[in-house]
Amino acid sequence: MTMTLKSTLVACTLSAGLAFAAIAQASDVEDSIHYRQSALGVIGWNIGPLGAMAQGDIDYDAEEFAHRAENLAFLASLPWEGFIEGSLRGDGHGVDTDALAAIADDWDDFESRQRTLIEETATLAELAQGDDFGAMRQQVAAVANTCRGCHDNYRAD
Ligand code: HEC
Repeated sequence: MTMTLKSTLVACTLSAGLAFAAIAQASDVEDSIHYRQSALGVIGWNIGPLGAMAQGDIDYDAEEFAHRAENLAFLASLPWEGFIEGSLRGDGHGVDTDALAAIADDWDDFESRQRTLIEETATLAELAQGDDFGAMRQQVAAVANTCRGCHDNYRAD
């Protein structure tokens, strides 16, 4: 009798624990997708004026350029912790994401592209302290190519 009650209690505790774990996991996945999309959105916002200046759509403003470049260099390392297991397209979580399953298959390459972005944006922030606008423009292109390269491989159109 005692044994039965005890094992029933244990069984209840276990299944409650499992259900809770499942819920916690689902919201971790949702949160991480929202987190990375937000971080990437903030990156997109900050590169906007840099691209516009590099392409001559708006006048070069040294202070604004340096400010945006510094933001980018800081932001470049943020999104990646949001790419957790089970959070890609086709993982069955039901959250809208453009992150392709290829990210899990080619994680080393995906990581190396993150590092490239961190390096290229650091170089841009450094150049932005100087007065070689030609070099800055070239470096904006290098950063944009890094974005594009990763999107071409790992982001849905
Ligand atoms: C290492 C790969 C990688 C690099 C580098 C990268 N991105 Fe992305 N980006 C992604 C992936 C994957 C997604 C899709 C995320 C999702 O939907 O969960 C994405 C999504 C985005 C989004 C959409 C966010 C949203 O609201 O859903 C923007 C904007 C963006 N990236 C801008 C940039 C810019 C600008 C750069 C370069 C400065 C850049 N990304 C560099 C992989 C990358």
